[in-house]
Amino acid sequence: MNTQIIETKAAFKAITDQLRHDGKSIGFVPTMGALHDGHCSLVRRAVKENDVCVVSVFCNPTQFNNAEDFEKYPRTIERDAALLEKEGVAFVFNPSPEEMYTADEMNHRFEFDFGGLDKVMEGKYRPGHFNGVVQVVSKLFDLAQPTRAYFGEKDFQQLAIIRRMAKLMNYDIEIIGCPIVREASGLALSSRNERLSAEEKRTAINISHILFESRQLTAMQNVSEVQHWVIEQINLVPGLTVEYYQIVDQDTLQPTDKWDNAIGCVTVYCGPVRLIDNVKYN
Ligand code: PAF
Repeated sequence: MNTQIIETKAAFKAITDQLRHDGKSIGFVPTMGALHDGHCSLVRRAVKENDVCVVSVFCNPTQFNNAEDFEKYPRTIERDAALLEKEGVAFVFNPSPEEMYTADEMNHRFEFDFGGLDKVMEGKYRPGHFNGVVQVVSKLFDLAQPTRAYFGEKDFQQLAIIRRMAKLMNYDIEIIGCPIVREASGLALSSRNERLSAEEKRTAINISHILFESRQLTAMQNVSEVQHWVIEQINLVPGLTVEYYQIVDQDTLQPTDKWDNAIGCVTVYCGPVRLIDNVKYN
């Protein structure tokens, strides 16, 4: 199948409108590009479960609260398009920032309120981040109006917020969360891994190992003890610095003291690269 690359909102909307008019189900995978096997797992599922799979590749400026992070985010559209063609993706939406946003939208952003879901963890350390994510995802949903949309569980908080947004905004879209894909070493796949040196990558492997090991402790230790243990163990690894590790309820994302329905979410700096991961405790 030849994948068609679309650069304008009008063309993207016209194509997806026509697909819906023809009675086709649309599986949508929003991405920021620099695709890896984690994205491919979402795409494969979208291809399998829908008549047509549509992917967006758009590095969204409004969700970065650090200009350098935005500049350094890998951009690999040619490689991404070739990969998506192999996976059987019909359409790739790859707009420029100017196409996606008017100057007004860039300067005056809507403030979304997710009743606490967006205030903890990533929301606390990256103010405005989820506002930007919701801004772009809602725009993409409005254009594509897909049947199903696929998101990775590595960004667990993002997934929870998008589910909430879809409910609050009455989107008739099934939001599907897909499990984290890991290297054989355990390292969670991320576009940011491309920025790790070979040595940093070896160091980063410790993050998932410590998270997995913490699962063994739940029979003897309470939530707060395991939380402290994880932070201490990761910080003991030279080259790793924990930004936060929080064990929260999977639905509310609020701190919990019960193991039932608990998930531990971590952000760690490996050298200059900010990595996230999580582990479920049941
Ligand atoms: O998870 C991502 O890659 C981004 O946050 C998303 C959902 C594509 C929005 O820009």
